[in-house]
Amino acid sequence: MSECYVCKVEELADGDVRIVKESGIEIGVIHQGGAYYAYQNLCPHQGGPACEGLRLPQVVDVIGEGGLFVGQRFDEADMHIVCPWHGYEYHLTSGEHVCNAALKLRKFEVSTRDGGIYVHV
Ligand code: FES
Repeated sequence: MSECYVCKVEELADGDVRIVKESGIEIGVIHQGGAYYAYQNLCPHQGGPACEGLRLPQVVDVIGEGGLFVGQRFDEADMHIVCPWHGYEYHLTSGEHVCNAALKLRKFEVSTRDGGIYVHV
């Protein structure tokens, strides 16, 4: 396993992504909600740059009395990575596709040390 320097902590604001290349693998390092995540920037659908897509919260139906649909809301605790090519969505925390767990982004460990962010490949 090798360790790849990404950038200084202050260079990756919350909500941003940094793309790095290590050992021939393109990796997206994402800072979201105070945590860091790293995935291969390769969508298992057709190879799109998944990490460069939007990050959006899960949409949840709101069901009222009698089982009636009354609207929808965002679940900010379940952010998704949305692949920019065809819109496949993956859970930010696991990399699993939201409907088919067999489709999964390749995940890497991230650490911070001495003011720097590192991804372990
Ligand atoms: S390549 Fe990512 S959704 Fe199709």
